[in-house]
Amino acid sequence: MPWIDTISSADIEENTAVSFKIGGFELAIYRLDGDEFRATDNICTHAHAYLSEGWFEDGVIECPLHAGCFDVRTGKGLGAPITADLRTYPVRVEAGMVQVELP
Ligand code: FES
Repeated sequence: MPWIDTISSADIEENTAVSFKIGGFELAIYRLDGDEFRATDNICTHAHAYLSEGWFEDGVIECPLHAGCFDVRTGKGLGAPITADLRTYPVRVEAGMVQVELP
């Protein structure tokens, strides 16, 4: 699958997350400190909640529904109530666009 343009890197502030949908994918795009970007599935693995609406700090997203947390660099769930890790996707920035490689 080719790299997919999501949004302009300038449109994501540091330590925030935004949602992006394409095809059957619902993604959360994160900007950490500086120019580090990451992408994961946007729907929590615990139940149906959008992680992009949660609290994001120090590379960890906290789900808005039951406060489960994930490391957005690895997708690893960080304890209860999370029992399944989050899918992550390769990210790069090209010509100012955050691009995600979908499977
Ligand atoms: Fe995310 Fe429950 S839906 S922690």
